[in-house]
Amino acid sequence: MSIPEPSQIDTMKAHPARIYDCLLGGKDNYPVDREAAEQVLAAVPTARHMARANRAFLQRAVRFLAGEAGIRQFLDIGTGFPTQGNVHEVAQGVTADARVVYVDNDPIVHVHADALLACDNTIAILADLREPDAILSHPHVRQVIDFGQPMALLLVAILHFIRDAEDPAGIIARFRDAMAPDSYLAISHATGDFDTVAATSAARAYDQAAAPMVLRSHAEVQRLFDGFALVDPGLVQVSQWRPDRDQTAGHPEVWAYGGVGRKVMPPTLRPAGRAAGADLGGPAPPCQAATAAGSDRARDSAQVLARAHTARRPARTGSGLQPPVAVSSRVRRPEPERPRNDQLQPSRSDT
Ligand SMILES: C[S@@+](CC[C@H](N)C(=O)[O-])C[C@H]1O[C@@H](n2cnc3c(N)ncnc32)[C@H](O)[C@@H]1O
Repeated sequence: MSIPEPSQIDTMKAHPARIYDCLLGGKDNYPVDREAAEQVLAAVPTARHMARANRAFLQRAVRFLAGEAGIRQFLDIGTGFPTQGNVHEVAQGVTADARVVYVDNDPIVHVHADALLACDNTIAILADLREPDAILSHPHVRQVIDFGQPMALLLVAILHFIRDAEDPAGIIARFRDAMAPDSYLAISHATGDFDTVAATSAARAYDQAAAPMVLRSHAEVQRLFDGFALVDPGLVQVSQWRPDRDQTAGHPEVWAYGGVGRKVMPPTLRPAGRAAGADLGGPAPPCQAATAAGSDRARDSAQVLARAHTARRPARTGSGLQPPVAVSSRVRRPEPERPRNDQLQPSRSDT
């Protein structure tokens, strides 16, 4: 297994994952991340609440997908640090056979995810959303995700780190085209719609970070669902998306939109007799990932973390990360077929 080199872990530059961790009250961050988080909080004092509301949205969306929508396989890109209510815990709490691939481009997140999230039927890989083909064709991804069956793509609080010039819509389209019909896309995205000045000021905290933050309007985020039909209640503030009964709906200061859409490509666009994802190189090979020695993985992870945490003057890479460089997994081979939930209730906007 190749593991991230210390030169890839730049603790002198704030990173979105660690700023978010800081806002959520986590401990996996450095002074430079805490400084950026303070800058965010100075501009938007409710930013911690927003981070928690986003996390709660992710969990409700996964519960919906694993439950009502009958989804059994999840590709979670922009995993973030493990915390309470991780995707596989929520999904497997609904259906024990749920499979999850965690993808992040931060080596420290990857090491944590690998150590704490990888378990039966889940894997963590180090890769970049901006390289969709590298993710889609990754052999370990294909061991867990059967692209011939419906799946859920989770892009929660990550797309605002993708610049327009990096073509977020094109990236999503690449995944959409590889996903089977009736697959789902969940997005949450920061916006300046509610207070442009304060939101822009908070976003500036990311200017010197590993990725700047791009605020998008409701219409711009909605366009990212091209080829998907939004399920009820559509694209709304994350706190308003199917809130639990005991939650206050629609906190006015949650400046992020969230929505879930079902893939509804016109049948005419689908080549007859060709399964979705068939361009990804044929059937998945037998699972070899499970042969990775757990003790080696634990040792490697510990080494990386130790190096990262003790690095005083980490080398600055300048060009950033070079993903994908590492993968580890503990997976069982996905089952080829499973019963579908044909009882899915169409929602008002789900047509
Ligand atoms: C704000 S956190 C969101 C974590 C989690 N999805 C949630 O909503 O709770 C954003 C995550 O996306 C990751 N990320 C940012 N840009 C990325 C990219 N281009 N490819 C992969 N991961 C990326 C960061 O490292 C970070 O872990």
